[in-house]
Parts: sequence; C-alpha cells; structure tokens
Amino acid sequence: MRWGLLLLGFFAGPAFAADGAQLFADQCASCHVLAGASSEQAPALGAVVWRKVAARPDFAYSGALKSLGGSWSPARLDGFLKDSQAFAPGNGMFFTVSDPADRKAIIAFLRVSH
Ligand code: HEC
Repeated sequence: MRWGLLLLGFFAGPAFAADGAQLFADQCASCHVLAGASSEQAPALGAVVWRKVAARPDFAYSGALKSLGGSWSPARLDGFLKDSQAFAPGNGMFFTVSDPADRKAIIAFLRVSH
C-alpha cells in the first residue's frame, strides 16, 4: 500500500479544497493514483485536466478511449464522470459520479493536482 501512504501525504496539504480531495480518496483512489506511474488498473490522473485523452504511455488504454481524441476539458471530464459508458461506449472505466456537486469538486481538485 505504498500509494495509499503517498496519497495520504499528498492530501494532507492545505492547498486543496477538502471536498474534492476527500471525494477523490474515497471514489477514485482505489483505481487511480495522481502522481508517478499509472497503476495496473488505471492511468495516473495528475495534471489530467487539459491533457490529451488517453495520452499516458504507461497505460494500455481501451480502443474506445483512444479513439475519442481531443483533451480533457472540465466539461468533458464532467460528462465522462457523469456516465463514462455513455461518454465513451465500451471504455474500461465502469464508474460514475451521479451528484453534480461532487463532480464539480472532484474536477476542481484535479485541476490543481499535478
Ligand atoms: C474501478 C476502477 C476505477 C475507478 C473507481 C475510477 N476509474 Fe477512472 N479509469 C479507470 C480505467 C480502467 C480507465 C481507463 C479506461 C480505458 O482505457 O478505457 C480510467 C480512465 C479515467 C480517465 C481518463 C484518463 C486519461 O488518461 O485519458 C479519467 C479522467 C478518469 N478515469 C477519472 C476518474 C475519476 C475522477 C474517478 C473518481 C471519481 C475515477 N476515474 C474512478 C478505472 C477507474
């Protein structure tokens, strides 16, 4: 659980909105790390806002995600988190965040996470 410890350290900083950090820890961190190499389950998400979709060389993305093109604007992230399978049918992430306020807080947190 080396990443768990790292994430704990990371989230201890005062610079992040408590909500988004907590939501990320609760809902995303079981699959995603922020910094460093991608995990086996999922791509690392540090600096993902405005990054090209499916751009990390250390993760084997699905064809569905690779063929999306473009970058992760906050609006696209919102759509993906709202209903990942509607946004990119057949992609490998089976997880949704139904509460719009939660999505907003998570995306705000991702914007300041590198
Ligand atoms: C059960 C595991 C799992 C959980 C939980 C999960 N994801 Fe994912 N996520 C994935 C997988 C797998 C992919 C890659 C999908 C693919 O290649 O089709 C992915 C891809 C992504 C991407 C695209 C990254 C890129 O490099 O293009 C973003 C953004 C993302 N997830 C955000 C989140 C957020 C934010 C949360 C929490 C609210 C979350 N995910 C929760 C498994 C998960």
